[in-house]
Amino acid sequence: MHGTLEQMLGIDVPIVLGPFGGMSSVALTAAVSDGGGLGSFGLYGYDGERIRETAAALRAATDRPFALNLWLPTGDEVTPADVDLGAARDALAPLYRAAGVEPPATPARFLPPFEEQLDAVWDAAPAVLSVVFGVPTRGVVDEAHRRGIRVIGTATSVAEARALEAGGVDAIVASGAEAAGHRVTFLGQAERSLVGTFALIPQVVDAVGVPVIAAGGVADRRGVAAAFALGASGVQVGSAFLRSRQSAASAGHRAALADSADTGTVLTRAMSGRLARGIPNRAVREIEAADAIAPFPAQNWLTGVFRAAAAGDAELSSLWAGQASALGSGGDAAGVLSELVAGLPR
Ligand SMILES: Cc1cc2nc3c(=O)[nH]c(=O)nc-3n(C[C@H](O)[C@H](O)[C@H](O)COP(=O)(O)O)c2cc1C
Repeated sequence: MHGTLEQMLGIDVPIVLGPFGGMSSVALTAAVSDGGGLGSFGLYGYDGERIRETAAALRAATDRPFALNLWLPTGDEVTPADVDLGAARDALAPLYRAAGVEPPATPARFLPPFEEQLDAVWDAAPAVLSVVFGVPTRGVVDEAHRRGIRVIGTATSVAEARALEAGGVDAIVASGAEAAGHRVTFLGQAERSLVGTFALIPQVVDAVGVPVIAAGGVADRRGVAAAFALGASGVQVGSAFLRSRQSAASAGHRAALADSADTGTVLTRAMSGRLARGIPNRAVREIEAADAIAPFPAQNWLTGVFRAAAAGDAELSSLWAGQASALGSGGDAAGVLSELVAGLPR
């Protein structure tokens, strides 16, 4: 069985490891790529130097294709100059105390410049550049293609998928509302773009001509079979791989994923200022109760200070998780991959 997606990306099986901004691991990305799928690595917040180091580590760990993932600037990101952190920082005081760290002074910047990240990605020359939160510019798509890099965009609606196809991307991840992590909506409000995977995939497949990769709630062979029955050409899997041995998730995060019920996740802006799906913990509950959330990326930076200090304390972390997190059994990433491969059409 060799479909267009495998040929296009130079992989053996159309199974993509979802990128985990802030939580990707070289070992997991390499394990999925070595297994014939497409390992992805999330570069959220990484500066140019860290991207170059990461790419070198990936190259040392695997000689198979992998994807690097960037968050596109949407233009509504606040900078330290135009946001008053006061109320949001005050609301986090008990969480800073719990993590044993002082409330931070305002930094020079919340995020590295996108152009710096992009330059480092060009140097890294991955097989695939995957992006979220928008349509890459024509310049970015053309430069990627000139360098032999495929571009994958991410949609949460049919309209976004159409916009991505018009923008020249090579494939589209269609991300249902079940998915872990941020709702990467860029047309309209994330709260109004919560289409489930089962409804989203066939409608996106009907709307675009490029291969569609189904994301959100796919965690075992049944989910893979369903996604292909709905017309997908591939799947992107997050939560099930996050539980694997090679993932960078803390022990507490893994336990929360394994124990999570189908109803065990919420969509919240508490941790980053943008809507994301995860397991509610002390941090989410206290921030939502205080009702003083700074806009993205300020809030993500503010919570990042206690998250880093608390090093893996599940009550003081971002417990991103999808609605099917409890499916599957964790273990070695190769085992998770072979379970998923068992659901591919023959
Ligand atoms: C910790 C975590 C971080 C994530 N960060 C990103 C990211 O930076 N970029 C991205 O495209 N997707 C990100 N995602 C989404 C996953 O790549 C994937 O699409 C999603 O987990 C699929 O849904 P599932 O968890 O139900 O399998 C993240 C998911 C998790 C769990």
